Amino acid sequence: MDQDQLKEHLRFASELGVAGVSRDPAWRSRPDAGQERQAGQGGQEAEVTKVALFTNQAEALVAIREDIGDCTRCKLHTLGRRQVVFGVGNPKADLMFVGEAPGADEDIQGVPFVGRAGQLLTKIIEAIGLTRDDVYIANVIKCRPPQNRNPEPDEIETCEPFLFRQIDLIRPKVIVALGKFAAQTLLRTDAPISRLRGRVSDYRGGKLIPTFHPAYLLRNPSSKREVWEDMKLVRTLLSEK
Ligand code: URA
Repeated sequence: MDQDQLKEHLRFASELGVAGVSRDPAWRSRPDAGQERQAGQGGQEAEVTKVALFTNQAEALVAIREDIGDCTRCKLHTLGRRQVVFGVGNPKADLMFVGEAPGADEDIQGVPFVGRAGQLLTKIIEAIGLTRDDVYIANVIKCRPPQNRNPEPDEIETCEPFLFRQIDLIRPKVIVALGKFAAQTLLRTDAPISRLRGRVSDYRGGKLIPTFHPAYLLRNPSSKREVWEDMKLVRTLLSEK
């Protein structure tokens, strides 16, 4: 990180309401997103296993993407979407973010969270000492709804199996559900995000934490403080064995 990046990081951290720096070494140590999770392996053998596993997971993700194909399973393919926006990042990530649906920028670029909300998400990721390359980012639905309207139940029902396959393949330690749709879809609840956020649930072999969607934060900057609290919790969970 150069000086300008450090300044930007600190400015954002203070904007999020960070009061100080923790003395807890676990907080400061950067989790190795590519680290082998199985105990008892060492040296070259572990490295070989890691590479083999990485290749398999990356290939398996490609296979899921190929299964989706040029999807016509729901009505969104007739409603102006340009392309399927599958997911991006480290196939072995310990941390995964799940958003709602691609917006206009994502629809053009084919990558989740690259617009204004995405830039804020990138800052949130960097605020806990990670980069976008360390984590995996996907959405509940893979195609842009027209005029960025909310995803409809039939669209979620049709598309969510692909998200579940992504999660089960990546097996992240922690999933952050961004906003109401991701949290409600993953947790199978109708509870409002204001009630769900900050609460840790066991989820598909890992932990799940709902937080506010970055697009909501753009409209309600004062809620960044709560997101920062949630992200500190994420950081703690990632540092646990
Ligand atoms: N909002 C989302 O939920 N997902 C994106 O990819 C972009 C904006």
